[in-house]
Amino acid sequence: MTILPPSSIGILGGGQLGRMTALAARQMGYGVQVLDPLADCAARPVVDRVVAARFDDPDGAAELARECAVVTLEIEQIAPAALEAVLAHALLRPGAEALRIIRDRQLQKEWLAAQGFPIGRYAVVSSVDDLAAAQRDLGPLLFVKACEGGYDGRSQVRLGAAESAADAFALLGNRRSVAEQGLDLALELSVLVARRPSGDTRTYPAAFNQHERQILAWSVLPAELPPNVAAHAERMAEEIARAVRLEGILAVEMFVLRSGELLVNELAPRPHNSYHASELACPTSQFEQLVRAVCDLPLGDVTPARPSAIVNLFGDLWLEGRTPAFARALEVEGTRLFLYGKHTPREGRKMGHLAAIGDTAQQALERVQRAAARL
Ligand SMILES: Nc1ncnc2c1ncn2[C@@H]1O[C@H](COP(=O)(O)OP(=O)(O)O)[C@@H](O)[C@H]1O
Ligand SMILES: [Mg+2]
Repeated sequence: MTILPPSSIGILGGGQLGRMTALAARQMGYGVQVLDPLADCAARPVVDRVVAARFDDPDGAAELARECAVVTLEIEQIAPAALEAVLAHALLRPGAEALRIIRDRQLQKEWLAAQGFPIGRYAVVSSVDDLAAAQRDLGPLLFVKACEGGYDGRSQVRLGAAESAADAFALLGNRRSVAEQGLDLALELSVLVARRPSGDTRTYPAAFNQHERQILAWSVLPAELPPNVAAHAERMAEEIARAVRLEGILAVEMFVLRSGELLVNELAPRPHNSYHASELACPTSQFEQLVRAVCDLPLGDVTPARPSAIVNLFGDLWLEGRTPAFARALEVEGTRLFLYGKHTPREGRKMGHLAAIGDTAQQALERVQRAAARL
């Protein structure tokens, strides 16, 4: 059943992804409400209502869902009880089963492996001894990630051969974690798939992603890749979306190893930082596509009209009360500024991004990096 404007869409999470989704929904004439622990979250100025509640609060989730035709999310760390509460009052898209699998790194990896999708070697660790054993089996380098609750390199530790398993496990709060073998990466990419409840699917071309300190630094869409690599990645992402019976959008993060092997890193059933460039590059941004998918409207065109690149802006740029030189950055031809309206800059906190278009991917990247350097 198609959900038409002016119905309301609910979003679990009012950070920047919720904010940009809300803007797209508003543009199409929908009402938007969000649930977020912070009443003054990034989405607040652009939504009809913020339900201030934690992501494990069933009452808050019910309150959001009661006034919405469909509820989606910008963060996968929603407690099952809160998802249940949503389902009692509204449609939940992507589906509860996809969310159950994806929100726990152990379940996600077991599911991917069982479905035959290629992933790196890992061990589930629940104690210091488990982690020390994983260090011996999978070392010298491990990436240890808490099964629940991490993003942007939080709740994860890079564990070198000389470093202590006990310290690493303590840093993770002694929580059940996956210890992944450190892989020899040639490059990282992601593929975003949108799927309607009917099964109709659109797949964006792969994005090329550069991470620094385990956080996305910049991204280019479409990625310049050998055509067979791009096609392989896009096909795999589509198969994953079909297998989880996605209703919404799904970003599949992938690693290309120096050996040439293509592996799945992780799944995100929501808008993704690496597709912010879709706002400039494609006729349909990831945010509008999410709205269309969860409202069961025809999906929009994803063929890039021109390449685009983004650079993330972190709180570091605001340190000691300075204001970044936005006007100087915007002098660079083809650039646009996106700020998320966050009040407190912190080191490593995503505050916004710069984006640029170009005649080529190289030009788009060169422009946006030149603009960022002027800040
Ligand atoms: N097993 C690994 N081998 C090599 N690099 C890794 C590995 N796991 C993570 N990384 C690096 O850290 C980044 C963030 O890890 P990821 O698991 O995607 O966490 P997050 O949920 O914070 O995005 C990856 O994009 C990659 O650059
Ligand atoms: Mg990631």
